[in-house]
Amino acid sequence: MRIVITGATSGIGRELAVQYAAAGVVLGLTGRRQDRLDEAAAACRARGAVVHTYAVDVVDRPAMASMARDFLAAAGGVDLVIANAGVGGPDKRSLDPGDADPMARLFETNVVGVVNTLVPFVPAMKAQRAGHLVAVASIAGFRALPGHAAYCASKSAVRMLMDGLGMDLRRHGIVCTSVNPGFVESELTAKNDFSMPFFLTTEVACRKIRRALARKRRAYTFPWQMALLCRLLVFAPEFIVRRLR
Ligand SMILES: NC(=O)c1ccc[n+]([C@@H]2O[C@H](COP(=O)([O-])OP(=O)(O)OC[C@H]3O[C@@H](n4cnc5c(N)ncnc54)[C@H](OP(=O)(O)O)[C@@H]3O)[C@@H](O)[C@H]2O)c1
Repeated sequence: MRIVITGATSGIGRELAVQYAAAGVVLGLTGRRQDRLDEAAAACRARGAVVHTYAVDVVDRPAMASMARDFLAAAGGVDLVIANAGVGGPDKRSLDPGDADPMARLFETNVVGVVNTLVPFVPAMKAQRAGHLVAVASIAGFRALPGHAAYCASKSAVRMLMDGLGMDLRRHGIVCTSVNPGFVESELTAKNDFSMPFFLTTEVACRKIRRALARKRRAYTFPWQMALLCRLLVFAPEFIVRRLR
């Protein structure tokens, strides 16, 4: 199996890489921190995988296209691409100083970064008439939450993108999946100063994700308690949602 994972230097991406790593597996791992990339690659090689690393920013479109070309040439094709790299951050980083930059950067990473990751692999998958494109969105993509409008909007965009791409690419044998996790142990959630119900360890969360991807689910929202909660939130009146600060 030939697998590309962005954001493999920590959290969900690193754990997915290690769990997929095995003899006969070729991994393409990306992230900006070279030392963390080397550490993740070593852990995967120890499990028998062949690993190619790319220290690239997902926002850098030419670098991401070059990464895809390099991986396709080295691995002779691709079976699974997981656009996992993403960032969080409260809206106040932009709203307090009146500086659009943090919000714009969040959209570039979480939305444009997914496009930069997945699109360069589409021609190869079409030629193979097989392949699986995955993006890690979030339960936050179901309803805007106070203080995190930009993050919620970015994840909602990713869900819509994967939904639509799935309809278009299906006839080429390509499956598209959006993964919508609840709260999972990672560097991202380590910064949260609010309560995180139904919190999952990275290991458990990634086992669940791998199982859903093996089943070629088009969307996977987990854990089930959070999936239920966010469906209820869609219909909740605004005065209730406003209290989730
Ligand atoms: N943890 C949760 O509870 C949770 C819930 C829902 C959704 N998610 C989503 O899951 C994904 C993974 O997050 P995580 O929780 O595992 O957080 P994490 O530990 O902070 O990992 C984020 C990863 O993304 C990479 N990254 C960030 N910006 C990047 C950029 N511009 N270019 C390249 N790589 C970049 C980071 O690598 P470098 O810093 O080395 O570049 C890191 O490997 C994200 O899309 C996040 O939104 C997480």
